[in-house]
Amino acid sequence: MCGISAIASHKPVSDQLLMTLQNLEYRGYDSCGMALFDDEKISVRKNVGSVDEVNAVEKFSTMNGTLGIAHTRWATHGGVTQSNSHPHFSNDNNFVIVHNGIISNYQQLQANLVTKGYKFFSDTDTEVFSNLIQEEYEAAGDVENAFCNAIDKLEGSFAIAMITNYQPDTIFAVKKDSPLVIGINDGVNYVSSDINAFISETRDTIILDDFEYVMVKKDDYKIKKLENRNEITKQVIQVQWDRQTAQMGGFSHYMLKEIFDQPHTVRSALHIPRDQINTIAQKFIDKEQSFCVGVGTTYYVAMVGTYLFSDYAGLYVPSISADEFPTLIPVNDKQHVLYFSQSGETYDTRMAIRAAKNAGAATSAVVNVVGSSISQEVDDCIFQGSGPEICVVSTKAAVSQMIILWQIALEVGVLRKHISRKTADEFQDKFQIFSDTIEQVLNEESGFIRNLASQTSHINNWLFMGKGIYYPIALESALKMKEVTYLHAEGLPAGFLKHGTLAMVDENMYSLFFLPFKSDSDLYRSTLMSIEEVKARNGKVIGFCSEEDEEIRKLLDHQLIIPASNPELTPLIQLIVAQLFSYYSALNLGLNIDKPRNLAKSVTVG
Ligand code: AGP
Repeated sequence: MCGISAIASHKPVSDQLLMTLQNLEYRGYDSCGMALFDDEKISVRKNVGSVDEVNAVEKFSTMNGTLGIAHTRWATHGGVTQSNSHPHFSNDNNFVIVHNGIISNYQQLQANLVTKGYKFFSDTDTEVFSNLIQEEYEAAGDVENAFCNAIDKLEGSFAIAMITNYQPDTIFAVKKDSPLVIGINDGVNYVSSDINAFISETRDTIILDDFEYVMVKKDDYKIKKLENRNEITKQVIQVQWDRQTAQMGGFSHYMLKEIFDQPHTVRSALHIPRDQINTIAQKFIDKEQSFCVGVGTTYYVAMVGTYLFSDYAGLYVPSISADEFPTLIPVNDKQHVLYFSQSGETYDTRMAIRAAKNAGAATSAVVNVVGSSISQEVDDCIFQGSGPEICVVSTKAAVSQMIILWQIALEVGVLRKHISRKTADEFQDKFQIFSDTIEQVLNEESGFIRNLASQTSHINNWLFMGKGIYYPIALESALKMKEVTYLHAEGLPAGFLKHGTLAMVDENMYSLFFLPFKSDSDLYRSTLMSIEEVKARNGKVIGFCSEEDEEIRKLLDHQLIIPASNPELTPLIQLIVAQLFSYYSALNLGLNIDKPRNLAKSVTVG
């Protein structure tokens, strides 16, 4: 949801700033821009389009200067226009800023500035800050005080980076409720929305907390607290991600690369230290009630959790979409909430954490991005170690979260004496087989899945169905399909079909069924009934099955054959196949797979 970047260097920075913008583009990609101080004054270039499109027109590399800021935008306030793109100048052109987040009191601040003669050239909430600082500078006479005084007047969420003609060797940046990190290198320092921006240059990172601001020069930085403006020392952490992991590694898209990363990321999820799993499992015992919470894909991860806790621990753990949590759940201090977030920055999830914390509930989370806001806000956090997920649609992060959930649910099951320690331990082997099966399916079935996608990508309407744990898998698979193909894919419980949606089924409607092997007979049989209902209305059916299952194979128009091993983890194999199916369908349609229209990777607004 917008990416900001700033660099102070001993050498020209335009190329590096461009690289950081490209690395941040998954945060927003409807327009972008750059501002550099070039010896005498600041110059700004910005326009609408992707980073490459804007660069082709604005030729960022020809800009001069060793200090600059840059921004890639996902519009919230004001349409996608050149004037709404960042950076934004103050009226006197002495200050220029980039911003991520929402300044919620901007109308009031703007109205006040207008009465004093300030002019506004955009519809954004951001521009108010560049003029506010101009006004504060006229009163304070020095940049740092003006910056802090202006920040004090803001409400809402913001990460802001600013450069000014008055102190042309310094980047000023501040954070509240939007992420901001510093990257430290020899003679070059970075400020950015996330570490992906500069990971190819340095792993030495400092994570800023809310209400901290920083003044960054090429060979020095100072971090201070906004409340008393005192300098503080913060730990420099070494981020373990590296450039190679973040790059595409020969795949045509990040989505495909990240789907193929999964055997590896599942193994990482299996190496989460045992005490971290146990700490969170214990909360399910200590507290009277627990919830699983996420939004979008992570809500479906949470739903998978509901089925796992029921199966392995005999415990009902409701899953709630984070955006509904604050209004729906009367939270109290006898409860525990487990959150899921890839980015660790999602606004809806953060508000759900705030609601729980305000009521005194215990909080924990599974998060992918080290140092992210959510990881700092909860009582206990597991870092899933899936490496950077660059494609806007989540694949490997979600499956790893499910594997971590599986381990927590098994431990809760043992603690509640619902399953034996032996049963839980046996899963270690099953998980190992599972990661090998993913590898096998990805390597052997990709061609088949690609062929199937090319036969069906003209189909506009899909139903994705499953029962039991296959239901959230169907929902998540339908979300993947919608996100990358823009086709209508509705996820629903297979048993729900006959209660209304069946009216839509005819020869033009395709249904994709997620279902267990025959050995899981009740779930298998009841899903088969729904398949029969569709077939009886001439609907087309694609379904998962094993090579041996003749009964279902006869019913299916297209079969997705998967290895008949490891029945418990079969839903996740089907999810991974569905990820590939969505990918190849979108590829066939020639769409922008890694950056689907209207979406952003990190949704930091409500
Ligand atoms: C996933 O494909 C989506 N882009 C989206 O639903 C995402 O899962 C959701 O916004 C939550 O994001 P988070 O995991 O970063 O919190």
